[in-house]
Amino acid sequence: MDKPKVVITREEIANKVAELATQLRKDYRGKNPLLIGILKGSFVFLSDLMRSMNIPVEVDFVRLSSYGAGTESSGKIKLVKDVETPIRGRHVLVVEDIIDRGLTVRFLLDYLSFREPASLKLCALFNKPSRRKVEVPIDYVGFTVPDAFVVGYGLDLNEKLRYLPDLCVLEEQK
Ligand code: IMP
Repeated sequence: MDKPKVVITREEIANKVAELATQLRKDYRGKNPLLIGILKGSFVFLSDLMRSMNIPVEVDFVRLSSYGAGTESSGKIKLVKDVETPIRGRHVLVVEDIIDRGLTVRFLLDYLSFREPASLKLCALFNKPSRRKVEVPIDYVGFTVPDAFVVGYGLDLNEKLRYLPDLCVLEEQK
C-alpha cells in the first residue's frame, strides 16, 4: 500500500475543531440540537466536536452508501441506516467528515428537510470544492483540501487507515 503523508496535523485539526465548537456553542446554546453524523467517516470528528461544544446535545447517525470499493463511486446514494430520533421541530446539525461531489450530503439534506426540522444546518470538517457536482450550502466548514484522496481522522480507503490521527494523502512508494 502507498505510504500516508501528513497534510493536516492532529494539532491543526484539534485547533479547528475547537474553533468550530466555539461558534456552534454560541449558535446552539439553549436549543438542545440534534447532531446527525454520517457513518462511518464522521464518527471521529463528531465525538471530538460534541465534547468541545460542551453544551447539551443529542446524537444520532445515518449510514448512506456512496463510495463502494476504492476511491470512486457510482454516484448513486442509498439510505442504509435511518435516524432513530424524531426530527420534526428539532434543531438539526448534520456533521460530515468530507464533502466531495456533494451528492451524499445533498441527498441527506433533502431527505431530512421533508421531516420538518426547526432548522437544518451542515457542518463539515473537510471540503473539496473543486470536485463539486451539486451545490450544497455548508454552514460550518473546517478546511478546504485539494483534489486528492485523503485518509485518517475517520476517513478510510477500503476500510483501512481511519485510525490515523492526522489527515494524510497516499504517496507512491519509491
Ligand atoms: P460525495 O457524495 O462525493 O460528496 O462523497 C462524500 C463521501 O465520500 C464522504 O462521506 C466520504 O465518506 C467519501 N469521501 C469523499 N472524498 C473522500 C476522501 O478523499 N477520502 C475518503 N473518503 C472520501
